[in-house]
Amino acid sequence: MEPVRIGILGLGTVGGGTVALLRRNAESLRRRLGRPLEVTRVAVQDPDKPRPADLSGIDLTTDAEGVCTDPDIDIVVELVGGVDNAEPLVRAALGHGKPVVTANKALLAERGNELFRFAGEKGVDLAFEAAVAGGIPIIKALREGLAGNRIQSVHAIANGTANYILSRMRTQGLEFEEALAEAQDLGYAEADPTFDVDGIDAAHKLALVAAVAFGTPINYDALHMEGIRAVTGEDIQFAAEMGYRIKLLAITRPAVDDGVEIRVHPALVPESAMLAGVEGVFNAVEVVGDAVGPTLYYGPGAGAEPTASAVVGDLVDVARTLGAPPEYRVPYLGFHAEGMREPRWAPIEEVETEYYLRLQAKDQPGVLAQVTRILAEEGISIEAIRQKEPLPGEEDVPVVLLTHTTRERAIRKALAAIDRLDVITGPSQMIRLEEVGTG
Ligand code: HSE
Repeated sequence: MEPVRIGILGLGTVGGGTVALLRRNAESLRRRLGRPLEVTRVAVQDPDKPRPADLSGIDLTTDAEGVCTDPDIDIVVELVGGVDNAEPLVRAALGHGKPVVTANKALLAERGNELFRFAGEKGVDLAFEAAVAGGIPIIKALREGLAGNRIQSVHAIANGTANYILSRMRTQGLEFEEALAEAQDLGYAEADPTFDVDGIDAAHKLALVAAVAFGTPINYDALHMEGIRAVTGEDIQFAAEMGYRIKLLAITRPAVDDGVEIRVHPALVPESAMLAGVEGVFNAVEVVGDAVGPTLYYGPGAGAEPTASAVVGDLVDVARTLGAPPEYRVPYLGFHAEGMREPRWAPIEEVETEYYLRLQAKDQPGVLAQVTRILAEEGISIEAIRQKEPLPGEEDVPVVLLTHTTRERAIRKALAAIDRLDVITGPSQMIRLEEVGTG
């Protein structure tokens, strides 16, 4: 059988892993597909740079657009990253009738609706398993395996770097900056860690997951996003003393009143929760379906061959349906175009959950009475309250509270009032507490 000819744009970590994996597993892939998958051209910025991958028989070029328009290429794999530089390349390939496999979460989170529409007009595939949670096949699970369900919630640890930092803060008693420096030394975090630690990378992934879970257009702008910079070693320690761990979670679920919640933020999870056991750079996604109940998908969220595993999985799918009419393929986001609905994206103030609060207070009589009065006025019920020892060299004391389930609007209003009290000496901390599955 004729080989399926693949052009790859970008030969960084994932590109190199993809070439290596296609070579190493060539025979088993041929058995699965009935045809060989063959990388014939790769576009790179610097063709003279030494590469770890075996590139024999591959045409290395600096002309990325030429790969996208080459009539001898059947499928284009976009691994250059970025939004403005990648979009024209993806459009060029789709415009020339070539399916595209991409790992580019930022591109799809921000321009995905237009790109899927364009791919649809051209009648070609645009596959993106590698864009979400690296090697975990969560897009396929949500789009196909769980298609019989109405999705009730998705809670994901979708950024390995942030998870590594929080894990090290807990196990080694580090502060955020120390754990970040360690993650940078190990090559997990970039010199500019913004995407990972401010929640942007997890948010890009969540925007795609929500669309696939609920059959909505991708709406990155609807997302509420908070990163992990404000989580202190104290918070992690206090949470642990109460039986919780702090994770950066990407969450989407039907909203309490109406619509869909979509949010990325640090959250307390019980230490008995399955997600609490996900440590280091690993990712995990917990999906609850109305029929199946809770399911958990765990694995490496980054890295050369784990991400290449997702790219090659997509290549097999796309190669199987090359030239087939679009109605024979799974829709890009898993829902028929006529079944897609823009929901009401619920604002964060409508979220109902439990809350961890840490206040910095003067150590004098009546402080707790003032705090609890304000919480009571907002109808917030307290589950636990503890005054901690002052930090060395400080007179103020941390006061930690856990609330029962309440509305975020009420918590915000109460905290604003608490922070205005004379006896409160620093800004208060608020971290949501999420109900997730226990093992
Ligand atoms: N930088 C990401 C992470 C991997 O730390 O999980 C790529 O999205």
